[in-house]
Amino acid sequence: MRMRRYLAAECLVLTLFVAGVGFAARGLVRIALAERARPAPRALAGAFATPAERDPGHLPNPATAQDSAGTFLGMEDDFLISRLRSQPIVRMKLNHGGSSLSFRVDFADGSRAAFKPAQTNLQTMPRKEVAAYRLNRLLGLSAVAPATPRMVSREDIFSHLHSDTAPLLPRIRAETIFDPRGNSAGVMMYWIPVIRESGLDTPDGIAQSTQWLTPGQAIPGNKHALAAQVSDMMVFDFLSANPDRYSGGNMMTNEDGSRLYFMDNTLSFFIEPEGNEKTRTALHRVQRFSRRLYEALGRVSETGLAQVLAQASEGEYEILTKPEIRAVVSRRDYVRRYIDGLVASHGAPEVLYFP
Ligand SMILES: Nc1ncnc2c1ncn2[C@@H]1O[C@H](COP(=O)(O)OP(=O)(O)O)[C@@H](O)[C@H]1O
Ligand SMILES: [Mg+2]
Repeated sequence: MRMRRYLAAECLVLTLFVAGVGFAARGLVRIALAERARPAPRALAGAFATPAERDPGHLPNPATAQDSAGTFLGMEDDFLISRLRSQPIVRMKLNHGGSSLSFRVDFADGSRAAFKPAQTNLQTMPRKEVAAYRLNRLLGLSAVAPATPRMVSREDIFSHLHSDTAPLLPRIRAETIFDPRGNSAGVMMYWIPVIRESGLDTPDGIAQSTQWLTPGQAIPGNKHALAAQVSDMMVFDFLSANPDRYSGGNMMTNEDGSRLYFMDNTLSFFIEPEGNEKTRTALHRVQRFSRRLYEALGRVSETGLAQVLAQASEGEYEILTKPEIRAVVSRRDYVRRYIDGLVASHGAPEVLYFP
């Protein structure tokens, strides 16, 4: 019964969000693409050439190539996760700019984390950030910061608040949810030290990246790796049913703009088998994909997902329900059908364009 009510609540949240209420709350309206793609000369042809041969500017996708062995920014996931789970908290500062309760945490060893507690705002469900990180790994990606469940006590939160955050105490009290033991079932994430706005969520950014991901269109040499990452992100957002990517601030890069981070994945994993309109529309703007990601879709089975999600929690809370897992697999089937259809029309070299 509780589960049914919970799922009904989630459907309601999504409906409101897609109707635009979520955007209004965030105070950000980003207008979708006006098709401005200018036809460009065909990329160096040759149906049998490898992508690298077709275009010497082709670079490996840094989100997969550098970190495929379970490391994030050069650090082992296991190391980062165990630190996120166990380091004592010494300070918590509320992050500005978002609609959710989201903190920057300083740990005793000097490292940092982002923390989202369980909260009244149903657009922020901490367990879904954990699911997003695990799905990203299952797909061989390294674009979501390592994230783990963590129960944080009322005392840990209120005794470590940064002085700047003190005026927001009433809001934190009103919106944080604690269990009967006084713990909030939140998510602790690796704090990415440097992030920059990508600009890819602006009308110009959307127009440009859509062009990169259209068969026959040229990609500037220094944008190949970024184009591949945008394509990966659209597949990822469709699989995770995340309509929040283009709402502002959730598509960040590293300092030089070469590496894309998929930020803020807590409004996701809804149970629509064919995704929602936003993510479906975004997916359909993409016609070039990474071959590696396409192959990795085979790992997104109910058992595969259940296994990686079981590893994520040490009993704090369930990461995804069975219906949520089943819906990811249905969306996986949808993405495959979509890509297979494109391959039939344009040929594999054009569609499975990135390594
Ligand atoms: N893992 C992280 N690393 C670095 N900064 C982060 C991280 N998570 C959140 N932030 C910062 O906090 C802001 C708000 O977080 P976000 O997850 O987007 O939540 P929301 O938009 O729902 O408030 C981000 O725009 C970013 O500046
Ligand atoms: Mg955000």
